[in-house]
Amino acid sequence: MSIALPILRPDSADVGQTPPPAPGQARGPGRLIDSHGRTIRDLRLSVTDRCNYRCVYCMDPDFRYMPKRELLSLEEYLTIARVVASLGIRKLRITGGEPTLYQRLDELIAGVGAMGFDDIAMTTNGSLLDRMPLERWRRDGLDRLTLSLDSMRAQRVAEITRTAATPQTVIDAIGLGKAAGFHPIKVNVVVMRGVNDDELADFADFAREHAVELRLIEFMPLDSSKAWSRETVVTADEMLAAIGRRYELVPVESCDPASTSLNFRFADGAPGRIGIIASVSRPFCGACSRLRITADGKVRPCLFSHEEWDVRALLRDGAADEEIRDFLVDSMWTKQAGHGIGSADFTAPARTMSAIGG
Ligand code: 5AD
Ligand code: SF4
Repeated sequence: MSIALPILRPDSADVGQTPPPAPGQARGPGRLIDSHGRTIRDLRLSVTDRCNYRCVYCMDPDFRYMPKRELLSLEEYLTIARVVASLGIRKLRITGGEPTLYQRLDELIAGVGAMGFDDIAMTTNGSLLDRMPLERWRRDGLDRLTLSLDSMRAQRVAEITRTAATPQTVIDAIGLGKAAGFHPIKVNVVVMRGVNDDELADFADFAREHAVELRLIEFMPLDSSKAWSRETVVTADEMLAAIGRRYELVPVESCDPASTSLNFRFADGAPGRIGIIASVSRPFCGACSRLRITADGKVRPCLFSHEEWDVRALLRDGAADEEIRDFLVDSMWTKQAGHGIGSADFTAPARTMSAIGG
């Protein structure tokens, strides 16, 4: 049975619609498929919208958080994870805000770790990892960590994060992560024109020196300050050209066909890799296998969706797993073919990255 719950459209007046019911064949296979024939295998679950940083590309200093009561409880997150696991989701990424600020993170990791996912990763700014039980997380089933570092220069890191963080904060976190057995460690860099695009080859140095997978991300229109414009985006081609002046890169096929990054190794065999997330200049929507659920229980078929589906109402109504499963199947059916960022009428979603989960 499918549930016709009101759709929440945060930045549209078009409230009150119900999800188009997925035809029978979407319910049958016990997996999530969309109307474009893609199988959804990857959940990004945000567990908090709080953060101790205020990165310029994400959150303004006076950014307002959602009231706590609107965020899901541990039990609600675990119910979602259990249901998506039964629908064939194989990969789970825990995100925020900053997930290490979520008080019940240890229990969440232990809970999802016992659900049989192939791969569980977490995106964190790394600033609090020295206080976290990393070895326990690893034992409980967390496989990988993605950290965040947007400059090799202390002054710039402070300016970008609007904190006293330094590159050393992340270098220490990399060491702790490796010692606890996390592999590979990825490091996200949001590249912005005029902010850190003069450091591209230095980022490559960093990847080699610390043997990490560096992920250079094109700046996306998900910042609360609305400072994004096409001119601020440094494209994948520009990034490759800048790194190519110092190092020869060799493309590598990702083992994941739904990978959204262009991946490279160093021709001279040095450790470290470079991945480029070209969401703006070369969107990879065709192979997208993702579903996102926000900390307040909204299902987002795409990072740039204007539509969200409110699974929290269902959870708080005491719905059975079966009903939640049908609701997720229906909402995934609405996943659009692509985010259309290249088209002239593209408009950014109302939520920032911190309120979606990166
Ligand atoms: N554009 C691109 N990437 C972003 N992130 C946050 N905001 C943006 C943005 N506007 C990335 C950061 C962080 C991850 C969760 O999302 O790299 O590590
Ligand atoms: Fe926090 Fe991540 Fe947003 Fe930076 S990008 S403010 S670390 S949620």
